[in-house]
Amino acid sequence: MRFHVLTLFPEVFPAIIGHSIVGQACERGLISVTVTNIRDYTHDAHGTADDYQFGGGPGMVMKAEPVFEAVEDAVSSLPADERAAAEVVLLTPQGRLLDQKMAEYLAKAPALVLICGHYAGVDDRVRQNLVTREVSIGDYVLTGGELPAMILIDSVARLAPGVVGSPESVAEDSITCGLLQHPLFTRPAKFRHMEVPEVLRSGHHAEILRWRRRESLSRTFQQRVDLLETADLTQEDLEFLASLGYYRGSRA
Ligand code: 6GU
Repeated sequence: MRFHVLTLFPEVFPAIIGHSIVGQACERGLISVTVTNIRDYTHDAHGTADDYQFGGGPGMVMKAEPVFEAVEDAVSSLPADERAAAEVVLLTPQGRLLDQKMAEYLAKAPALVLICGHYAGVDDRVRQNLVTREVSIGDYVLTGGELPAMILIDSVARLAPGVVGSPESVAEDSITCGLLQHPLFTRPAKFRHMEVPEVLRSGHHAEILRWRRRESLSRTFQQRVDLLETADLTQEDLEFLASLGYYRGSRA
């Protein structure tokens, strides 16, 4: 999995991407992250990457030419057989919301070219002619696409084979299964006056599974009732949720 980031602020990436699980995955050759400064593709003495918008209005717009050249260079640097399936992603609040399904879809592409928007936005000819997908990370406005690009890289990279320790920890992810994760505990069993639930120390595997399932269901009901509408639920799940006051379709 290759990530190619195009940004006006390349220096912010190593801090995050160079460390943690993503950094290790790079070192192990499981993924690669290349960061390119869009300013390197400007042609005037000042390295001008933005300009006033046609029609007037506040905010500068990122110029098309440097972004076009940066994307074309990034795509032609890919192995020939990966070019057609590479996705060119524009990080923008106008994009579709990133969720686990989208991360799974993007993880199937051999390469992602990520354009980090800045200022008021990017000249729309970039979107019309180069971009295969516009992505937003949530309904709030950020100053640029760098943090969203890092979030996208993190969520997609951990799906690449071998990046995260065990495949089960990916497959059993909350959200992946449509529910929030159950509570977790580690030693000591007693800390101050707080004890780890007895059932988790019982060694009774079936009871533990049942307890975790119920905790997932009640957490999801309390925090993210919207997820219950599409989660894969058994009759037993529905009966438990009904005891909490949830009925499918009721949006309690
Ligand atoms: Cl991708 N970019 C910016 N600037 N703000 C955002 C965003 C992206 N996603 C949510 N807010």
